[in-house]
Amino acid sequence: MVGSVLIDRMQAEGDFAHIEPVFFSTSNAGGTAPSMAKNETKLQDAYDIDALKRCEIIVTAQGGDYTSDVYPRLRAAGWTGHWIDAASTLRMKDDAVIVLDPVNLPVIQNALAKSRNGGGRNWIGGNCTVSCMLMGVGALYKAGLVEWMSTMTYQAASGGGAAHMRELLTQFGTLNAEVKSLLDDPKSAILEIDRKLLAKQHALNASETANFGVPLGGSLIPWIDKDLGNGMSKEEWKGGAETNKILGQGEGFGTAAVPVDGFCVRVGAMRCHSQAMMFKLKKDVPLADIESMIANDNAWVKVVPNTAEDSKRDLTPVAVTGTMTIPVGRLRKMAMGPEYLGAFTVGDQLLWGAAEPLRRMLRILVEA
Ligand code: HSE
Repeated sequence: MVGSVLIDRMQAEGDFAHIEPVFFSTSNAGGTAPSMAKNETKLQDAYDIDALKRCEIIVTAQGGDYTSDVYPRLRAAGWTGHWIDAASTLRMKDDAVIVLDPVNLPVIQNALAKSRNGGGRNWIGGNCTVSCMLMGVGALYKAGLVEWMSTMTYQAASGGGAAHMRELLTQFGTLNAEVKSLLDDPKSAILEIDRKLLAKQHALNASETANFGVPLGGSLIPWIDKDLGNGMSKEEWKGGAETNKILGQGEGFGTAAVPVDGFCVRVGAMRCHSQAMMFKLKKDVPLADIESMIANDNAWVKVVPNTAEDSKRDLTPVAVTGTMTIPVGRLRKMAMGPEYLGAFTVGDQLLWGAAEPLRRMLRILVEA
């Protein structure tokens, strides 16, 4: 799914005009390559190390299992090219940069300079929630204003993959069908509908919940990714670890990390991750200054006025899906004091959350 979105974006931005692409497949080697292929019109075998070694740059959105299998063999075979990857496998390695150039171009450029003298050549896309968050509120970090941040996420089904999206929609359909005759009757009792719906949610069988493990339609799941055994989910850990690494601070950079923590929750949205954030700022900054700082940070962020009408229209997964816009709204000082800032943001997790930082990194390398 990320690969398809990536190819769409690369076509839309004319990226293929700047490269001579060779397409690899894990399942269909020998098949016909996409029309953007130039000399090599057949799909190559994505496990063929010799074939991969011919490439100066490899871009993969195949997933962590593929990276774990192929990447070490490729390096062991002496390949010194650039590896651009969406999977989390290499993300926290010392020789990898988490790429999100509108936020961390200086970190990327610094690593690129070092890569010319034998430094790392691994450019990894960040966790989708973190990338979308930093595209929205990165300005506050760049200005050194954040003492700490807590973020509570509302993550879409797509974060699990295509099968998860299908499962959510199938559950919606199953649940609707269960109460359809009652819904069609305006005189039916809502508590009767609710009782039947709940009974059906409890009765969903293993194949109807194969991906999420429990019902998501009409419910939520307050845990994403592995249980780290210390009360934290891996997704929550990534929030702090990756935010700091993207910004080039904390462990590995010899500077203090900004504490970032919160709860990550799966909700019944399709492909936009949303999050409610609270910042403790290092000082009291007027709200108007904060709004202008955020609005001027990059070409994609959009400050949404903190009104009911604007928030409901512009600050939802439905409003943002399929767009590059990162709206930031609900900006207000919280009751705890003038240094406490609340905000809400939404991002398409397949675009800024996955594909876009990869294709932009490819362009940076091609133009370097
Ligand atoms: N881990 C994310 C999620 C997706 O499950 O929503 C990819 O970063």
